[in-house]
Amino acid sequence: MKRLGIIGGTGFLEFEGLEVQARREEETRWGMPSGPVLEGVLEGTGVAFLHRHGTPSRIPPHRINYRANICALAAAGCDRIVAVAAVGGIRGDLVPGSLVIPDQIVDYTWGREHTFFEDDLDAPVHVDFTAPYDSALSSALQSSALTAGTAVTAGGTYACTQGPRLESAAEVDRLERDGCDIVGMTGMPEAVLAREAGIAYAHLAIVVNAAAGRAPGPIRVDAMAGVMATSTGKVRQIIRGVVASQP
Ligand code: HPA
Repeated sequence: MKRLGIIGGTGFLEFEGLEVQARREEETRWGMPSGPVLEGVLEGTGVAFLHRHGTPSRIPPHRINYRANICALAAAGCDRIVAVAAVGGIRGDLVPGSLVIPDQIVDYTWGREHTFFEDDLDAPVHVDFTAPYDSALSSALQSSALTAGTAVTAGGTYACTQGPRLESAAEVDRLERDGCDIVGMTGMPEAVLAREAGIAYAHLAIVVNAAAGRAPGPIRVDAMAGVMATSTGKVRQIIRGVVASQP
């Protein structure tokens, strides 16, 4: 059975309302995923949920086995993935609590296992990544938000930094000069691995802080969880709408 996969991030440990039917924690060709893949039913439709930081949340962004996670979701039959992640807002209007469906990525990460195509190849493999996110799935997120009466910003460029530290103000200035609107640490190589695996992938980003230097003083890391907590209900509703709208 083909299903929609949901990858949860910080503050999104489980998917309330998901009727779990199976919990699979199997080693993949690329190693162990972050935690069990929860296969279940949402809105009468089969879905699979995986928390990318593990349960309990313990794996930092640069240590996540992104290849195993995508491989485990593919093994669960996922042909589409909606990924949820917390980000910092670079653009002035993307204040904490804003939701963004980005349409572009700039990758600043390094040293991560970022491809399925490196060994035992007959020829080098190059996937097209002109449009990193699936437009149909991104539109489904946007329509669902509209139906739910939740404001979202459709489009925008996601900067993926290495972490786990936050950026300096000068680094955020540079991201802004590069045309980035939001910054997070987990969007890559997740998005490209999904592309390599032939899985449609869209991203729902939750702005939990103003990026470094975009508000006075240091970033209050303790305040991020509060913003996340007030956003999860809206995010869940949007994803439920997407699941319900899928053929
Ligand atoms: N930078 C990078 N990743 C993040 C941020 C940020 O400001 N906020 C949440 N994830």
